[in-house]
Amino acid sequence: MQQPTTAITATGIWTKGHGVRPWRSNAELIALGVVGLGYLRPDDRVLDPTFGRGAWWKDWSPSVLVHHDIDQDGVDFRALPYADGEFDVVAFDPPYVCTGGRETSTLGDFNDRYGLRDAPRTPEALLAMNVAGLDECWRVVGPGGLVLCKTANYVWSGHLYPGAHLTLEHALSSTGFKLEDSFVYAGNVRAQPVRSRKCSACSGSGVDSRPGNAHGEPCIVCGGAGRVQSEAAHARQNVSYLYVLRRPRSAKVVKGSPALPLA
Ligand SMILES: C[S@@+](CC[C@H](N)C(=O)[O-])C[C@H]1O[C@@H](n2cnc3c(N)ncnc32)[C@H](O)[C@@H]1O
Repeated sequence: MQQPTTAITATGIWTKGHGVRPWRSNAELIALGVVGLGYLRPDDRVLDPTFGRGAWWKDWSPSVLVHHDIDQDGVDFRALPYADGEFDVVAFDPPYVCTGGRETSTLGDFNDRYGLRDAPRTPEALLAMNVAGLDECWRVVGPGGLVLCKTANYVWSGHLYPGAHLTLEHALSSTGFKLEDSFVYAGNVRAQPVRSRKCSACSGSGVDSRPGNAHGEPCIVCGGAGRVQSEAAHARQNVSYLYVLRRPRSAKVVKGSPALPLA
């Protein structure tokens, strides 16, 4: 009998006869994608400075996994207490969506889950924190080492902020990493939430405010609801990228920050 064949795509696993199945979790992405392609090996000495709930390591973990998180032990990923080149791989999963934009009902839980309660409140401050962390990861992996860096683009106060692209640009142009590979993780794929705003024709009263409306007929724009649906300004950005970055054995390091455009 012919054995099923399996291949790894950027977004998930392709199994002959079953099509493409997206990663069910970050743990599966690590175990089947990153380990499957040989970027993580059982005997690697691995540092996770953004451990959080340890979700990356639920399906697979290396024999040596050293972990920290500023919320758990106060270790800041911008100043790691290790000598140069002490690790083979650093798994770097910093907060990649910044707080300080518009409030939403699910924001509290989201912020807790992704360690955003105390995160910088502007995209510029968040990027500066994360690229400083990336430079520190470069130092502790040493020549030939790998950094697995998670990042995302996101909508902030109505603007699309290209966090993933700017982080990658910094990694390649300023820090000196080489991009070995990239994985895409699509979490909770749903439509953009419907938003509404106050009807400007009736100022939210729901009543037709034109002269001559003695009987209080409903507003012809909102039909009496007082609110109208507003169009989504951007495509939903519920996708994150995991970049496999290699510190070359010999590399010239020029540190600096990338440009910070807002769309
Ligand atoms: C996206 S979450 C990581 C999730 C984690 N990979 C997991 O599996 O649960 C980002 C984490 O970075 C931590 N963090 C934020 N700023 C930090 C800093 N400057 N130094 C170290 N950890 C930081 C947060 O506390 C949070 O747990």
